[in-house]
Amino acid sequence: MSTPATVNLKSPQELYLDWEQAHWAAQDVDISRDSADWASLQDGERDLLYWVLSSLMVAEERISTQFCGLVLAQDDEEEGSYLSTQLVDENRHMQFYARFQDEVIADPAAIGSHVARAREVLGEPFKYIFDDALVKAHDRLRLEPGDRAAKVDFVTIYHMVLEGTLGLVSSHFLLEFLRERGLLPNFVEGYGLIAADEQRHIAYGTWFLREAVAEDPAMADVVRARLRDLLPVVSESITPPSEGAWDVLGVEDGALAEFGLGALTRRLQLIGVSLEAA
Ligand SMILES: [Fe+2]
Ligand SMILES: [Fe+2]
Repeated sequence: MSTPATVNLKSPQELYLDWEQAHWAAQDVDISRDSADWASLQDGERDLLYWVLSSLMVAEERISTQFCGLVLAQDDEEEGSYLSTQLVDENRHMQFYARFQDEVIADPAAIGSHVARAREVLGEPFKYIFDDALVKAHDRLRLEPGDRAAKVDFVTIYHMVLEGTLGLVSSHFLLEFLRERGLLPNFVEGYGLIAADEQRHIAYGTWFLREAVAEDPAMADVVRARLRDLLPVVSESITPPSEGAWDVLGVEDGALAEFGLGALTRRLQLIGVSLEAA
């Protein structure tokens, strides 16, 4: 175990209070301009953005539906209050992506139809992360909410890997690309609001894992084992199906993995876990 950095992390109660001040509504984001932008994209750009938006639609459906177990595993009322807000946030995100599908990408349909269509372009690594690892860890936690290792494993997958690595890489590069080119400004507004919510979620995960490892150093092994299992798959899952697709974004090979790993490593230092075995 490495020594955790002595940085003050917000408690669940502070994060809950932040949430009270940070409301926004998926239905209030104006999406009237993006349809024209979408129609005028070049083919390579549209294919890549369609794939990214499909990933976001499916990821957010998984993330909303595979979360209740953590609310049940709360240790006190303050943590339960915070976790309840995160459950609401994830549903708001799913609603925003579904609304974007309804109004810009496809014909209006139920969320399940958008998710099913979006799934058609996603590969095996994505399925392993969201349909296998996440679902199994959530089922385990749901059945045994008092099992510390189950909670640590779930938060490692959800907050460290999905939100703190995969989600952070997507929002960083996608927002930069769209802002630089002045594309899909309505989507950028909604996605920016989502990214701000995600900062609160990642802060909770960092706080929880630091507490858990400080209480029981053996929990560092649980975090490390899960990261070693998932990180190679994460880097595959952010590789689009067509070769050279990231050239469209003007992103160099390896830049995404480097950014994601850098962010994760800084967070692991706060938690007091190193990726190398102790
Ligand atoms: Fe989310
Ligand atoms: Fe989140």
